[in-house]
Amino acid sequence: MTLSPDAGLSTLGIHGGAEPTRPGDPVVPPLVQSATFHGGRRDDALLYSRYGNNPLQRLVGRKVAALEGTEAGLVLGSGMGAISATLLALTEAGDHIVASEHLYGATRELLEVELPRRGVTTTFVDPDRSGAWADAAEERTRVFYLEAPTNPTLRVVDPRAVVAQARGRDVTVVMDATFATPVNLRPAALGVDVVIHSATKYMGGHSDVIAGVVAGSEATVDAVTTMMKRYGAAADPHMVWLLDRGLRTLDVRVRRHNTNALAVARFLEGRPEVARVLYPGLESHPDHALAADLLLGAGGMVSFVVNGGGEAADRVMDGLELIHVAPSLGGVESLVSQPRYTSHRAMDEARRTALGIPDGFLRLSVGIEDPHDLTADLGRALERAFD
Ligand SMILES: Cc1ncc(COP(=O)(O)O)c(C=O)c1O
Repeated sequence: MTLSPDAGLSTLGIHGGAEPTRPGDPVVPPLVQSATFHGGRRDDALLYSRYGNNPLQRLVGRKVAALEGTEAGLVLGSGMGAISATLLALTEAGDHIVASEHLYGATRELLEVELPRRGVTTTFVDPDRSGAWADAAEERTRVFYLEAPTNPTLRVVDPRAVVAQARGRDVTVVMDATFATPVNLRPAALGVDVVIHSATKYMGGHSDVIAGVVAGSEATVDAVTTMMKRYGAAADPHMVWLLDRGLRTLDVRVRRHNTNALAVARFLEGRPEVARVLYPGLESHPDHALAADLLLGAGGMVSFVVNGGGEAADRVMDGLELIHVAPSLGGVESLVSQPRYTSHRAMDEARRTALGIPDGFLRLSVGIEDPHDLTADLGRALERAFD
């Protein structure tokens, strides 16, 4: 289907990447639960789901490219599959990566533990320090890798500054924009070369798939596809079908996550039990001005610190009824977790506190329920916890 070049994100989420239709075709792309497809003679294209080239995988790849405004897109078996395949594609033994020090834990492990076993090293930088990326770059630096907003302190990093420092070097700028979603941020339009999402989160949107996507130039996506084939990070057909369904409502869901999260953040800011609220949409957030300039909306994640430390945070979690205690994020239902039990459990309290994650810190993935129900649940839980 040919869409107008200025088609909006809701339209792209529904129709992006679709083939022309004929009478009798289903309106919804069918789920073809098949590992392989007829063909494979000399001139046939070989369709095999581990290659990422079955019809639905290709459709969702094109849709992701349309949403991100890139030449090509690819869907993989998980966010980590997407990140690993991308970094394996862009580096070889002897190469070097400069990465933000604020990264999802498994990404950090990949860079710190796994890639050095393959001869690729990483220097971690404070992403906001002026000139940090250029200062850390070496002759064999091939990738600048960043993530924003960051987990769980929700710092906003300006990709434009990172892109500017990559200029004139043989460096690919890669951004994990999972928390931002294409609704709130379009990194490719700001010069980022490769955009990655854990589509398990907002893109899937219903906490029922594990998925990852990569968007970038045709050449880069081809190289990532090769790694996906070799290391086996391909997407299962049923997951791709569910992901396509999620993408159809991405725009409306994320806009609702944005307004709900702002309402919840404002509510928490007014509560005496709460010492601090971290939300880029609040004037009190250190990156509020940048967020207002860069992001369409400040996202669905809200972090807050309750008075009384870890025990008080436990009591708040115990008192919640509507908001479920679970890791992960980006689904229609609200979830709460404490980084000291999840993403930052390997660190001691002093180190967590130094990173701005003291005990008492709660991370809320604000869903799309009615906001007054969420604030009522939080209010009740806070009252009970401090009774
Ligand atoms: C920012 C970010 N990137 C990547 C991942 C990994 O995604 P997945 O669990 O789909 O492999 C996560 C998972 O929590 C994440 O939060």
